Amino acid sequence: MRALVTGAAGFVGSTLVKRLIQDGHDVIGIDAMTDYYEVSIKRANISSIGLDRFSFVEGDLNKLDLVSLLQGVDWIFHQAGQPGVRKSWGEDFAIYTRANVDATQRLLEAVRQIDTVKRFVYASSSSVYGDAERYPTQETDRPQPMSPYGVTKLSAEHLCCLYAENFGVPTVSLRYFTVYGPGQRTDMAFTRFTKAAVLDEKIQIYGNGEQIRDFTYVDDVVDANVRAAQIDSPAGSVFNVAGGSNTSVNEVLDLLGELSETSLSVDYGEKIAGDVYRTGGNTDQIRNALGWSAQVGLREGLEQQLNWARTTFGG
Ligand code: UGA
Repeated sequence: MRALVTGAAGFVGSTLVKRLIQDGHDVIGIDAMTDYYEVSIKRANISSIGLDRFSFVEGDLNKLDLVSLLQGVDWIFHQAGQPGVRKSWGEDFAIYTRANVDATQRLLEAVRQIDTVKRFVYASSSSVYGDAERYPTQETDRPQPMSPYGVTKLSAEHLCCLYAENFGVPTVSLRYFTVYGPGQRTDMAFTRFTKAAVLDEKIQIYGNGEQIRDFTYVDDVVDANVRAAQIDSPAGSVFNVAGGSNTSVNEVLDLLGELSETSLSVDYGEKIAGDVYRTGGNTDQIRNALGWSAQVGLREGLEQQLNWARTTFGG
């Protein structure tokens, strides 16, 4: 198959590209190389892919000639976006609407003109739920985002559903729950925590650390993408992709202390606006439709990320 991956230089995008190539597919990667976190990391992600079966286009989805790029493409994995729940307030909101809503709408319009596309997989987010009405949260529960970021991810998901409904664009939206693992973005908790453990630095916790997340290992998220592309599901489908960990940040710190055999130095500060108290996803739908379930538990996954942090940040 010929796959197009947007956000190919990012954490999930670059891991997905490697899996697709390993599975024998040809991949076109697109990335705007924005500087929300170190561009050098994105360049390193692209270099680590290798050029066999992979071509890379650096550019902005709001400007590129997408119809030309989509010629002959079978699968689209739309991973690009402006991430980060805590930074989406104030003037920066315009960055989020442009990268998450406008770019998705532009891509969907282009896909309407291409008849080879068999699946359009959209990287949605658990942040669409906000503080949910129940746990584990089901896809049909009322979304009520807590952050402007979550609003943009939900808007783009709605766009996918209505292009499916009106024009038959074969979209599947995957709601990722806090993805972690080797290569995780440097603004995210596990990379910050494991780096601090390796370098014996202070860990900053937002709030009292009792917030709960359904942390999901990156290879499991990549596998959900591959299944969503390969296995038929109705256009406009929406699935939770949740690792099943349901663990508080304090419990993560305990586990990390044990795995790293260090006593971590932790500072507790203010809770940040936009952070939800809890995420937790019911995964019955994706198990029934795509045969997906998380394979990597928190202990094993955190150990993998700690090993990666030792190599990446260790002296
Ligand atoms: C993550 C991603 O950053 C979002 O892009 C994604 O959409 C979202 O998951 C999702 O599931 O939809 P978040 O859960 O905030 O958002 O992920 P982390 O940055 O790993 O934070 C996890 C928890 O640790 C949060 O409660 C956060 O406040 C806390 N944290 C994070 C700290 O206490 N200190 C830090 O230095 C970083």
